[in-house]
Amino acid sequence: MMLDLFENYKETVAIAPGAVLFKGFVENARALLGAIGDVTARSPFRHMATSGGYRMSVAMTGCGERGWVSDKRGYRYDPTDPETWCPWPEMPAAFLQLAKEAAAEAGYPEFSPDACLINRYDIGAKLSLHQDKDELDLTAPVVSVSLGLPATFLFGGLSRNEPKKKLRLVHGDVVVWGGPSRLAYHGVSPLKPGLHPLLGNIRINLTFRKTE
Ligand code: SIN
Ligand code: FE2
Repeated sequence: MMLDLFENYKETVAIAPGAVLFKGFVENARALLGAIGDVTARSPFRHMATSGGYRMSVAMTGCGERGWVSDKRGYRYDPTDPETWCPWPEMPAAFLQLAKEAAAEAGYPEFSPDACLINRYDIGAKLSLHQDKDELDLTAPVVSVSLGLPATFLFGGLSRNEPKKKLRLVHGDVVVWGGPSRLAYHGVSPLKPGLHPLLGNIRINLTFRKTE
């Protein structure tokens, strides 16, 4: 248990050119969790299907002007939640503030995200290696916030088979990747069993993007 306390200390870890990990960056996790509750009350988590028809193990939702949608037609950002037929919930102020602060700290002071994807990992859920490339504005970075159980984040290069760094992401950590790393391949290993004091047996990840 002592280890958990020490894991919350602040530290900056350079990952690659344009990519950085801020350990313990989040100070208002409870406010974020409240806001996540507000968003998911209106646009609940769902398991989307890949374009190939497979059910994704990660449950997703989102907020902001557009949400990321995956179905048999492929991947895209859509202003309407296909489950509710309503616009996605507004981006909570606490989300926007955190994303902007982290981006500025990483050297992207102009960052103004218009979408936040919310991923829920249950035990065993994973995200295969991929690039975030459905956004039209690739000059803007991606800001990723980890909450709940720890995960192993894989961060590689611009081609799929380059060596990958394995980073342990714990509750409160923020990763920012942009510039030369904007299209780096990345993924998340299957979530290991555990119990987090605030979130129980899940991990939640927020990723902020500028989609247009
Ligand atoms: C993502 O790749 O979009 C999410 C990464 C994560 O869950 O840490
Ligand atoms: Fe991604």
